[in-house]
Amino acid sequence: MWRMLGVEAEGFRALALKHRGRTGLSQAALARRAGVHVRSVQGWEGGLAYPSAPRLRPLIAAFFEAGGFAVGHELTEAQALWEAVGREAPHFETPFDAAWFGELLLAARGWMATPEQDVEHSNGPSSEHWGEAPDVASFLGRDAEREMLRRWVLDERCRVVAIVGLGGIGKTLLATRLALDLAPAFDYVYWRSLRNALAPGEWLAGAIRFLSPGDPPPPDSEAGRLERLLDLARRARCLLVLDNFETVLQPGERAGRFQPGFERFGTVVQQLAESAHQSCVLLTSREEPVEFSLLKGESKPVRVLGL
Ligand SMILES: Nc1ncnc2c1ncn2[C@@H]1O[C@H](COP(=O)(O)OP(=O)(O)OP(=O)(O)O)[C@@H](O)[C@H]1O
Ligand SMILES: [Mg+2]
Repeated sequence: MWRMLGVEAEGFRALALKHRGRTGLSQAALARRAGVHVRSVQGWEGGLAYPSAPRLRPLIAAFFEAGGFAVGHELTEAQALWEAVGREAPHFETPFDAAWFGELLLAARGWMATPEQDVEHSNGPSSEHWGEAPDVASFLGRDAEREMLRRWVLDERCRVVAIVGLGGIGKTLLATRLALDLAPAFDYVYWRSLRNALAPGEWLAGAIRFLSPGDPPPPDSEAGRLERLLDLARRARCLLVLDNFETVLQPGERAGRFQPGFERFGTVVQQLAESAHQSCVLLTSREEPVEFSLLKGESKPVRVLGL
Protein backbone atom coordinates (compact mmCIF):
# COMPACT_ATOMS: atom_id res chain seq x y z
CA MET A 1 0.00 0.00 0.00
CA TRP A 2 1.35 3.45 -0.81
CA ARG A 3 2.05 6.06 1.82
CA MET A 4 -0.63 8.70 1.71
CA LEU A 5 0.74 12.09 0.80
CA GLY A 6 -0.02 14.84 3.26
CA VAL A 7 -2.63 12.75 4.99
CA GLU A 8 -2.18 11.08 8.35
CA ALA A 9 -3.79 7.66 8.67
CA GLU A 10 -6.78 9.01 10.61
CA GLY A 11 -9.84 6.98 11.48
CA PHE A 12 -12.97 7.04 9.33
CA ARG A 13 -15.02 8.99 11.84
CA ALA A 14 -12.43 11.77 12.16
CA LEU A 15 -12.02 11.92 8.40
CA ALA A 16 -15.77 12.05 7.76
CA LEU A 17 -16.10 14.94 10.22
CA LYS A 18 -13.12 16.75 8.71
CA HIS A 19 -14.37 16.50 5.15
CA ARG A 20 -17.93 17.53 6.01
CA GLY A 21 -16.45 20.41 8.03
CA ARG A 22 -14.66 21.62 4.92
CA THR A 23 -17.84 21.51 2.85
CA GLY A 24 -19.78 23.56 5.38
CA LEU A 25 -22.78 21.26 4.78
CA SER A 26 -25.12 20.15 7.53
CA GLN A 27 -25.53 16.42 8.13
CA ALA A 28 -28.93 16.62 6.43
CA ALA A 29 -27.55 18.46 3.38
CA LEU A 30 -24.69 15.99 3.01
CA ALA A 31 -27.11 13.08 3.36
CA ARG A 32 -29.28 14.54 0.60
CA ARG A 33 -26.32 14.92 -1.73
CA ALA A 34 -25.06 11.41 -0.98
CA GLY A 35 -28.56 9.96 -1.38
CA VAL A 36 -28.69 8.46 2.13
CA HIS A 37 -30.82 9.01 5.20
CA VAL A 38 -29.55 11.62 7.64
CA ARG A 39 -29.44 8.88 10.30
CA SER A 40 -26.77 7.12 8.24
CA VAL A 41 -24.55 10.20 8.35
CA GLN A 42 -25.22 10.57 12.07
CA GLY A 43 -24.29 6.94 12.63
CA TRP A 44 -21.06 7.25 10.62
CA GLU A 45 -19.99 10.45 12.34
CA GLY A 46 -20.97 9.02 15.70
CA GLY A 47 -18.74 6.00 15.20
CA LEU A 48 -21.75 3.68 15.38
CA ALA A 49 -21.65 2.34 11.84
CA TYR A 50 -19.71 2.31 8.59
CA PRO A 51 -20.95 2.82 5.04
CA SER A 52 -21.01 -0.12 2.66
CA ALA A 53 -19.09 0.30 -0.61
CA PRO A 54 -22.22 1.29 -2.60
CA ARG A 55 -22.85 4.08 -0.05
CA LEU A 56 -19.24 5.10 0.39
CA ARG A 57 -18.91 5.98 -3.29
CA PRO A 58 -21.69 8.59 -3.35
CA LEU A 59 -20.47 9.90 0.02
CA ILE A 60 -16.99 10.46 -1.45
CA ALA A 61 -18.52 11.98 -4.59
CA ALA A 62 -20.59 14.33 -2.42
CA PHE A 63 -17.51 15.40 -0.44
CA PHE A 64 -15.60 15.99 -3.63
CA GLU A 65 -18.36 17.96 -5.33
CA ALA A 66 -18.91 20.15 -2.28
CA GLY A 67 -15.20 20.98 -1.85
CA GLY A 68 -14.53 18.59 1.05
CA PHE A 69 -11.15 17.50 -0.28
CA ALA A 70 -8.03 19.69 -0.35
CA VAL A 71 -7.10 20.95 -3.82
CA GLY A 72 -4.31 18.81 -5.25
CA HIS A 73 -4.97 16.06 -2.71
CA GLU A 74 -8.44 14.93 -3.76
CA LEU A 75 -7.36 11.48 -4.82
CA THR A 76 -5.20 10.71 -1.80
CA GLU A 77 -7.87 12.01 0.58
CA ALA A 78 -10.64 10.02 -1.10
CA GLN A 79 -8.46 6.94 -0.96
CA ALA A 80 -7.59 7.55 2.70
CA LEU A 81 -11.29 7.71 3.53
CA TRP A 82 -11.97 4.49 1.67
CA GLU A 83 -9.03 2.72 3.27
CA ALA A 84 -10.07 3.86 6.74
CA VAL A 85 -13.38 2.02 6.24
CA GLY A 86 -11.45 -0.97 4.92
CA ARG A 87 -9.32 -1.04 8.06
CA GLU A 88 -12.10 -0.49 10.56
CA ALA A 89 -15.31 -1.99 9.20
CA PRO A 90 -15.72 -5.73 9.52
CA HIS A 91 -16.14 -7.56 6.20
CA PHE A 92 -15.37 -4.49 4.06
CA GLU A 93 -13.12 -5.84 1.36
CA THR A 94 -13.86 -3.76 -1.74
CA PRO A 95 -10.65 -2.05 -2.90
CA PHE A 96 -10.60 1.66 -3.69
CA ASP A 97 -11.33 2.24 -7.37
CA ALA A 98 -8.86 4.94 -8.39
CA ALA A 99 -10.08 4.81 -12.01
CA TRP A 100 -13.62 5.65 -10.89
CA PHE A 101 -12.41 8.58 -8.81
CA GLY A 102 -10.15 9.69 -11.66
CA GLU A 103 -13.18 9.82 -13.95
CA LEU A 104 -14.97 11.91 -11.37
CA LEU A 105 -12.09 14.38 -11.26
CA LEU A 106 -11.98 14.57 -15.03
CA ALA A 107 -15.71 15.01 -15.41
CA ALA A 108 -15.64 17.80 -12.83
CA ARG A 109 -12.93 19.66 -14.70
CA GLY A 110 -14.49 19.05 -18.09
CA TRP A 111 -11.12 18.31 -19.59
CA MET A 112 -9.99 15.45 -21.70
CA ALA A 113 -6.80 13.51 -21.71
CA THR A 114 -6.09 11.16 -24.50
CA PRO A 115 -2.94 9.58 -25.83
CA GLU A 116 -4.15 8.88 -29.32
CA GLN A 117 -7.17 10.94 -30.08
CA ASP A 118 -7.02 12.97 -33.24
CA VAL A 119 -8.10 16.29 -31.87
CA GLU A 120 -8.60 17.66 -35.37
CA HIS A 121 -11.71 15.51 -35.63
CA SER A 122 -12.97 15.78 -32.12
CA ASN A 123 -16.13 17.61 -31.25
CA GLY A 124 -14.52 19.52 -28.42
CA PRO A 125 -13.50 18.85 -24.86
CA SER A 126 -14.77 15.63 -23.39
CA SER A 127 -13.68 13.39 -20.58
CA GLU A 128 -14.79 10.22 -22.29
CA HIS A 129 -11.45 9.53 -23.95
CA TRP A 130 -9.57 9.20 -20.67
CA GLY A 131 -10.26 5.50 -20.87
CA GLU A 132 -7.61 5.24 -23.60
CA ALA A 133 -4.87 6.41 -21.27
CA PRO A 134 -3.16 3.70 -19.22
CA ASP A 135 -5.28 2.40 -16.41
CA VAL A 136 -3.69 3.51 -13.17
CA ALA A 137 -5.98 1.49 -10.92
CA SER A 138 -3.10 -0.93 -10.27
CA PHE A 139 -0.54 1.83 -9.75
CA LEU A 140 1.78 1.04 -6.86
CA GLY A 141 4.53 2.83 -4.94
CA ARG A 142 6.65 5.67 -6.34
CA ASP A 143 5.62 7.80 -3.36
CA ALA A 144 8.86 9.78 -3.27
CA GLU A 145 8.76 10.40 -7.02
CA ARG A 146 5.12 11.52 -6.94
CA GLU A 147 5.81 13.91 -4.11
CA MET A 148 8.89 15.34 -5.81
CA LEU A 149 7.06 15.82 -9.11
CA ARG A 150 4.10 17.41 -7.33
CA ARG A 151 6.45 19.82 -5.58
CA TRP A 152 8.22 20.75 -8.82
CA VAL A 153 4.98 21.43 -10.66
CA LEU A 154 2.77 22.98 -7.97
CA ASP A 155 5.11 24.51 -5.36
CA GLU A 156 8.10 25.46 -7.48
CA ARG A 157 6.07 26.17 -10.62
CA CYS A 158 8.55 24.43 -12.92
CA ARG A 159 7.58 24.98 -16.53
CA VAL A 160 9.01 21.77 -17.98
CA VAL A 161 9.30 18.49 -16.09
CA ALA A 162 10.66 15.35 -17.74
CA ILE A 163 10.46 11.75 -16.56
CA VAL A 164 13.37 9.93 -18.20
CA GLY A 165 14.27 6.24 -18.04
CA LEU A 166 14.60 2.92 -19.80
CA GLY A 167 11.71 1.41 -21.76
CA GLY A 168 9.11 -0.23 -19.56
CA ILE A 169 10.38 1.27 -16.30
CA GLY A 170 7.09 3.03 -15.57
CA LYS A 171 7.36 6.54 -17.02
CA THR A 172 3.94 6.65 -18.69
CA LEU A 173 2.16 5.18 -15.71
CA LEU A 174 3.81 7.67 -13.38
CA ALA A 175 3.01 10.59 -15.70
CA THR A 176 -0.63 9.46 -15.88
CA ARG A 177 -0.85 9.10 -12.12
CA LEU A 178 0.67 12.56 -11.73
CA ALA A 179 -1.66 14.13 -14.30
CA LEU A 180 -4.62 12.79 -12.34
CA ASP A 181 -3.14 14.00 -9.05
CA LEU A 182 -2.49 17.49 -10.41
CA ALA A 183 -5.56 17.91 -12.62
CA PRO A 184 -7.55 19.93 -10.10
CA ALA A 185 -4.83 22.58 -10.03
CA PHE A 186 -5.03 23.12 -13.81
CA ASP A 187 -7.59 24.64 -16.14
CA TYR A 188 -6.73 22.20 -18.93
CA VAL A 189 -4.81 18.98 -19.36
CA TYR A 190 -3.81 18.13 -22.90
CA TRP A 191 -2.33 14.67 -23.27
CA ARG A 192 -0.70 13.40 -26.46
CA SER A 193 1.63 10.56 -27.22
CA LEU A 194 4.28 11.16 -29.87
CA ARG A 195 4.59 7.42 -30.45
CA ASN A 196 3.32 7.66 -34.02
CA ALA A 197 5.78 10.46 -34.81
CA LEU A 198 3.30 13.30 -34.50
CA ALA A 199 4.72 16.29 -36.38
CA PRO A 200 5.39 19.38 -34.25
CA GLY A 201 3.02 21.51 -36.34
CA GLU A 202 0.21 18.99 -35.83
CA TRP A 203 0.82 18.82 -32.11
CA LEU A 204 0.79 22.60 -31.88
CA ALA A 205 -2.43 22.83 -33.92
CA GLY A 206 -4.12 20.17 -31.81
CA ALA A 207 -3.12 21.89 -28.58
CA ILE A 208 -4.31 25.28 -29.82
CA ARG A 209 -7.69 23.91 -30.93
CA PHE A 210 -8.16 22.14 -27.65
CA LEU A 211 -7.16 25.09 -25.47
CA SER A 212 -9.15 27.68 -27.42
CA PRO A 213 -11.99 25.95 -29.26
CA GLY A 214 -13.87 29.18 -29.99
CA ASP A 215 -10.87 31.06 -31.40
CA PRO A 216 -9.86 31.37 -35.08
CA PRO A 217 -8.03 28.30 -36.46
CA PRO A 218 -4.31 27.90 -35.70
CA PRO A 219 -1.90 29.96 -37.85
CA ASP A 220 -0.38 28.20 -40.85
CA SER A 221 3.26 28.42 -39.80
CA GLU A 222 4.83 26.43 -36.98
CA ALA A 223 6.37 29.64 -35.61
CA GLY A 224 2.96 31.32 -35.56
CA ARG A 225 1.41 28.31 -33.86
CA LEU A 226 4.10 28.29 -31.19
CA GLU A 227 3.50 31.96 -30.52
CA ARG A 228 -0.25 31.29 -30.14
CA LEU A 229 0.42 28.38 -27.81
CA LEU A 230 2.67 30.52 -25.61
CA ASP A 231 -0.10 33.09 -25.40
CA LEU A 232 -2.60 30.40 -24.35
CA ALA A 233 -0.11 29.06 -21.78
CA ARG A 234 -0.02 32.55 -20.29
CA ARG A 235 -3.78 33.01 -20.24
CA ALA A 236 -4.74 29.68 -18.61
CA ARG A 237 -3.01 27.09 -16.48
CA CYS A 238 -2.46 24.18 -18.86
CA LEU A 239 -0.78 20.86 -18.19
CA LEU A 240 0.66 19.70 -21.51
CA VAL A 241 1.67 16.05 -21.37
CA LEU A 242 3.98 14.74 -24.09
CA ASP A 243 4.38 10.98 -23.79
CA ASN A 244 7.05 9.00 -25.71
CA PHE A 245 9.13 12.07 -26.47
CA GLU A 246 12.06 9.82 -27.52
CA THR A 247 10.13 9.09 -30.74
CA VAL A 248 11.18 12.48 -32.11
CA LEU A 249 14.81 12.14 -30.94
CA GLN A 250 17.60 10.40 -32.82
CA PRO A 251 18.56 7.08 -31.27
CA GLY A 252 22.08 5.85 -30.59
CA GLU A 253 25.15 8.02 -30.70
CA ARG A 254 23.29 11.17 -31.49
CA ALA A 255 20.87 10.53 -28.66
CA GLY A 256 19.19 13.66 -27.44
CA ARG A 257 19.18 15.35 -30.87
CA PHE A 258 16.02 15.58 -32.92
CA GLN A 259 15.00 13.48 -35.90
CA PRO A 260 14.99 15.55 -39.11
CA GLY A 261 11.68 17.39 -39.37
CA PHE A 262 11.01 17.28 -35.64
CA GLU A 263 13.46 19.97 -34.52
CA ARG A 264 10.59 22.35 -33.75
CA PHE A 265 9.83 20.27 -30.69
CA GLY A 266 13.19 21.50 -29.34
CA THR A 267 12.07 25.10 -29.80
CA VAL A 268 8.67 24.29 -28.28
CA VAL A 269 10.26 22.89 -25.14
CA GLN A 270 12.86 25.64 -24.95
CA GLN A 271 10.32 28.46 -25.39
CA LEU A 272 7.91 26.93 -22.92
CA ALA A 273 10.80 26.60 -20.47
CA GLU A 274 12.12 30.12 -20.88
CA SER A 275 9.03 32.32 -21.34
CA ALA A 276 6.89 33.54 -18.50
CA HIS A 277 3.54 31.69 -18.32
CA GLN A 278 1.45 29.68 -15.88
CA SER A 279 1.46 26.30 -17.60
CA CYS A 280 3.59 23.17 -17.42
CA VAL A 281 4.94 20.62 -19.89
CA LEU A 282 5.24 17.11 -18.51
CA LEU A 283 7.11 14.78 -20.81
CA THR A 284 8.25 11.18 -20.69
CA SER A 285 11.23 10.02 -22.68
CA ARG A 286 13.77 7.21 -22.89
CA GLU A 287 16.41 9.82 -23.76
CA GLU A 288 16.98 13.31 -22.47
CA PRO A 289 16.76 16.03 -25.16
CA VAL A 290 20.13 17.74 -25.59
CA GLU A 291 18.60 21.17 -24.87
CA PHE A 292 17.95 20.11 -21.32
CA SER A 293 21.61 20.21 -20.28
CA LEU A 294 21.50 24.03 -20.38
CA LEU A 295 17.92 24.48 -19.18
CA LYS A 296 17.68 22.15 -16.19
CA GLY A 297 18.80 22.81 -12.66
CA GLU A 298 17.63 23.53 -9.16
CA SER A 299 17.17 27.24 -9.71
CA LYS A 300 15.85 26.76 -13.25
CA PRO A 301 12.34 26.04 -14.52
CA VAL A 302 13.24 22.64 -16.03
CA ARG A 303 13.61 19.49 -13.96
CA VAL A 304 14.43 15.94 -14.96
CA LEU A 305 13.49 12.92 -12.91
CA GLY A 306 15.54 9.87 -13.82
CA LEU A 307 13.79 6.57 -13.10
N1 LIG B 1 3.98 2.26 -10.46
C1 LIG B 1 3.57 1.13 -11.06
N2 LIG B 1 2.67 0.32 -10.47
C2 LIG B 1 2.26 -0.80 -11.07
N3 LIG B 1 2.69 -1.23 -12.28
C3 LIG B 1 3.60 -0.48 -12.93
C4 LIG B 1 4.09 0.74 -12.36
N4 LIG B 1 4.97 1.28 -13.22
C5 LIG B 1 5.02 0.45 -14.28
N5 LIG B 1 4.21 -0.61 -14.11
C6 LIG B 1 4.03 -1.74 -15.06
O1 LIG B 1 5.03 -1.65 -16.05
C7 LIG B 1 4.44 -1.48 -17.34
C8 LIG B 1 5.25 -0.49 -18.16
O2 LIG B 1 5.10 0.80 -17.60
P1 LIG B 1 5.08 2.11 -18.52
O3 LIG B 1 4.28 1.87 -19.74
O4 LIG B 1 4.72 3.25 -17.67
O5 LIG B 1 6.61 2.18 -18.92
P2 LIG B 1 7.37 3.28 -19.75
O6 LIG B 1 8.59 3.64 -18.99
O7 LIG B 1 6.46 4.36 -20.13
O8 LIG B 1 7.79 2.44 -21.05
P3 LIG B 1 8.10 2.96 -22.53
O9 LIG B 1 9.47 3.59 -22.50
O10 LIG B 1 8.06 1.71 -23.35
O11 LIG B 1 7.05 3.94 -22.92
C9 LIG B 1 3.01 -1.02 -17.07
O12 LIG B 1 2.12 -1.41 -18.07
C10 LIG B 1 2.69 -1.68 -15.77
O13 LIG B 1 2.27 -3.00 -15.98
MG1 LIG C 1 5.72 5.00 -21.95
